Amino acid sequence: MKNTPHIIQTAEIADTVLLPGDPLRAKYVAENFLENVQQFNAVRGALGFTGTYNGKKVSVFGTGMGMPSIGIYSYELINVFGVKNLIRIGSCGSIQKSVKVSDIVIAMGASTDSNYADQYQLPGTFSAVADFELLSKAKAAADELSLNVAIGNVLSSNYFYCDDVSVNYKWAKMGILGIEMEAFALYLAAARYNAKALCILTVSDSIIEKADMTAQQRENGLNDMIKLSLTMI
Ligand code: HPA
Repeated sequence: MKNTPHIIQTAEIADTVLLPGDPLRAKYVAENFLENVQQFNAVRGALGFTGTYNGKKVSVFGTGMGMPSIGIYSYELINVFGVKNLIRIGSCGSIQKSVKVSDIVIAMGASTDSNYADQYQLPGTFSAVADFELLSKAKAAADELSLNVAIGNVLSSNYFYCDDVSVNYKWAKMGILGIEMEAFALYLAAARYNAKALCILTVSDSIIEKADMTAQQRENGLNDMIKLSLTMI
């Protein structure tokens, strides 16, 4: 068992970790979808569990919100705990008319309004992309489950409450499907430390159509995304 400033390990962590933002969602996945569950972390309420799904070992861990938070956890999961596959299962706000509330979006790429990549001192712009093998597996699982998925570019934003909402239309013009707050940092960590990452999102709201999920849509959409992530592993 290993410790970091943010994870005091109390059980094994699998090679593949599902990463919801909400730690209680990690608990929900563990309690409702996994067998042989053991909790591996509780530090700062970042709940982590390891169990099996159809006999395959998998962990699920709540990363918190935003790039600094998922940046910390993805760094530690990869570099200290040897995690190989990091699959974020989160939510996003749609900025395209064609992407509706409760749809599933898979982030083939992640753009950003953040300077998070400055730390790498690159002499240009880094394109943060999903791992192709994980992306292919997710698409195959979606087909198997007859789930419609929109696959494309998302915006990982520093802002949930952005003072100037007109920027959303600029990103929409570039074909960005939806806005979330973590994928870019996750893809960077995977690129830098040689792991595989993918971000799957349920559309929780439409930013341009001012629509929100009903409680029922929220639950169904969430369950579809969880099934998709567990089917692909
Ligand atoms: N903005 C940023 N992140 C989000 C949103 C949003 O509208 N909805 C769900 N995650």
